[in-house]
Amino acid sequence: MHYSEELIEEIRTRNNIVDVVAGYVRLQKRGSNHWGLCPFHNEKSPSFSVSDSKQMYYCFGCGAGGNVYTFLMNYERMSFPEAVKALADRAGVQLPQEEDSAEARQRENRRARLLEVNREAAKFFYYQLRSPRGAVGYQYLQKRELSDETIHRFGLGYAGKNGSELVQYLRGKGFEDELIKEVGLASHSERSGLTSQFWNRVMFPIQDINHRVIGFGGRVMGDGTPKYLNSPETPVFDKRRNLYGLNFARTARCGNMILCEGYMDVIAMHQAGFTQAVASLGTAFTPEQANLLRRYTENVLLAYDSDGAGVKAALRGIGILREAGLVGKVIDMRPYKDPDEFMKALGREAFQERIDQAENSFFFEVRILEGQFDMSDPEAKTRFHREIAKKLCQFSEDVERDNYLQAIADKYLIGVENLRKLVNSYAAQTGLERPVERPRSGIHPKNDPEESAKKAQRLLMTWLTDEPALYGKIKKYILPEDFTEEIYRRVAERLFRELEEGNFQPAGIISMFEDEEEQREVAALFHTSLPQLDTPQEREKAFHDILLSVKKNSYEYYTGKLGTDVNALKQAVEGRKALEELAKTHISLD
Ligand code: CTP
Ligand code: MN
Repeated sequence: MHYSEELIEEIRTRNNIVDVVAGYVRLQKRGSNHWGLCPFHNEKSPSFSVSDSKQMYYCFGCGAGGNVYTFLMNYERMSFPEAVKALADRAGVQLPQEEDSAEARQRENRRARLLEVNREAAKFFYYQLRSPRGAVGYQYLQKRELSDETIHRFGLGYAGKNGSELVQYLRGKGFEDELIKEVGLASHSERSGLTSQFWNRVMFPIQDINHRVIGFGGRVMGDGTPKYLNSPETPVFDKRRNLYGLNFARTARCGNMILCEGYMDVIAMHQAGFTQAVASLGTAFTPEQANLLRRYTENVLLAYDSDGAGVKAALRGIGILREAGLVGKVIDMRPYKDPDEFMKALGREAFQERIDQAENSFFFEVRILEGQFDMSDPEAKTRFHREIAKKLCQFSEDVERDNYLQAIADKYLIGVENLRKLVNSYAAQTGLERPVERPRSGIHPKNDPEESAKKAQRLLMTWLTDEPALYGKIKKYILPEDFTEEIYRRVAERLFRELEEGNFQPAGIISMFEDEEEQREVAALFHTSLPQLDTPQEREKAFHDILLSVKKNSYEYYTGKLGTDVNALKQAVEGRKALEELAKTHISLD
C-alpha cells in the first residue's frame, strides 16, 4: 500500500504525539516538554522527552527519537504501513482502498497462499495423528504425558511414513507444487517426484501471535537424527521475530514471561498452568525476540537446560535481555535437565517455588564465573575478584552499582572496601558503562573537527526549530548548502522552504526518511541541548558564534572542493562574503 505524502501528513497531524505516547509511557509535564522513563532503554530517571510543539519524541539517554510514526514502529514493532493504518483508525481517517501497487498486492497474495498451505498441512497432520496409522505418534505423545486437551490446544499432528500422501492431499486442495516446495513442506527428487519433507515424525505447528501457522517443527519418535526438523525461513516464517507459544503467552498477564529452549518445554509448562512460557524457534534467542517480549513484560525468566550448553545459552540470553532493557532472572532446574523433565518429576508447585527463587541474572553470571577459578589458589581467587570488579563497572548508576557491590562482597566474603577500590580503579581505566547506546551510523569521537562542525549545525537546527521567528533574520547568511552533512542538508532544504512558506512541521520532515537510523539522526538534529544562558547578551553571543561556526565550516568545506566540484567556486566566493558580513553584524534575538 502506498499512501500520498499529504495523507501521511494529515494522519500525523491528527494524532497528537503526546496523547499517543501517553498511552504507553507515564508522562509528566516539565517546562515545554513532557518527560518519562524511556521505553527504549533501561533507566531509572526520565530522559525521554515528548514535545507538543515539535510533535516529536527524543531520548537524551539513548538517542531514540522520531515522530508519532517512528514511535509506533519502534515500540509496537509495526511496519510503516501498519503504523499509518493504526493512526488513521485512531483519528477516524478513512484510508483509500485501491491505492495498492500491483506488486504489493501480489506479495500479499503470495503470503496469504503460503499461510493457507500451512494451515491445510497442519490439518492433514492433525487428522493423521488421530487415524489408525498415526497411532504410533499418538502413543509417543501419550508416553510424554501430554493430555488430549494439550495435544488439541497446540494442534499437534503426525507426518506418516508415506511421503506422497501429504503432497496428494495439498494438490487436491488446489495448491501448486511450486508453493508446496516454497513453504518447505516437500521437496523434489528424480526417483519419487515431490515428497514430504517430514516423514514419520510428530508435528508441532508453529503459530504467530494471531494463531496463524507459519511453519513446523517435526520430532523423531525415538533416537533418530536430526531430533527436530524445522521448516525453512519463508516470507511468512521469520525465525528471528517469532516465539513458540507466544500466541497463548501474550494473554497470560502474570507479570513475567518464561523463556525456554524447546517446544516440548513450552508445552509441558502450559499444560502445568504456566501459560507465560515461550521458546525460540530451533535457533538462538535474538534481540528481535527480546523486543517482542518487551511488548508484554519487563521481567523475563530463563528456563534453559541445566547442562553446559544451556548455561552458555543463558549467559548469551542475559546479555540480549539487558541490552533490550529487560530484567532477566534464571530458573534453576537442577537436578533435572529441562522444564519438561522437571515438571514430570516434581510438578507445578515445586516449579512455582523455583520461579519464586529465580536467581538475579548478575548473581548467576558471577556464580558461573566462579566455577572457572580454583578458589583454593590465592592467585586464581584474585583474578576472580578482578573479574567481578570489571563486571560491576557495567552498572552506570552509583546506587545500583553499590548495592550489587555490597551484595557480592557479602556473598563471596570479599572486603567491601577492597572490592570498591578495585572497581574504582577499573572504572578509572576504562570508564563506567554508559547508558545503553544503540550503534549510530557515522559516529565520530567528541573532539574530532568534523564532529564539532556537525554539532554546530545541529545546534543551529535545534535553535531554529525552537524559535522559528529567527529564520527571517538569518536567511541572508545561511543557506541549506551550509549544512555540509548530507542528511542535515536535506532536512535544511525542506525546513527552510517550510519556514519561508510559514508552514513549518519538523515532525513531518522525519517521514521523509525511511531508514530507522536516519529517523533517529533527524530527531537528534531537532533536539540538541542548547546552552543554558541567563542574559540576552550571552544568548546573542552564543547564537552568533554558532552561525559563524556553521558558515566558516561551510566556507572551508567548499574551498577544499575547488577544482573537483563545479558549484564549489560559487559557494566559496559567496560564502566568504556572507561570512565577512556576518562577522560584523549584530543579530538580535528578540
Ligand atoms: N532443536 C532443533 N534441532 C535439533 C535439536 C533441537 O531445532 N536437532 C531445537 C528445537 O526447537 C528444540 C530445541 O532446539 O525444541 C531444544 O532442543 P532439545 O533440548 O534437544 O530438545 P527438547 O525440547 O528437550 O526435546 P525433547 O524433550 O523432545 O528431547
Ligand atoms: Mn526435553
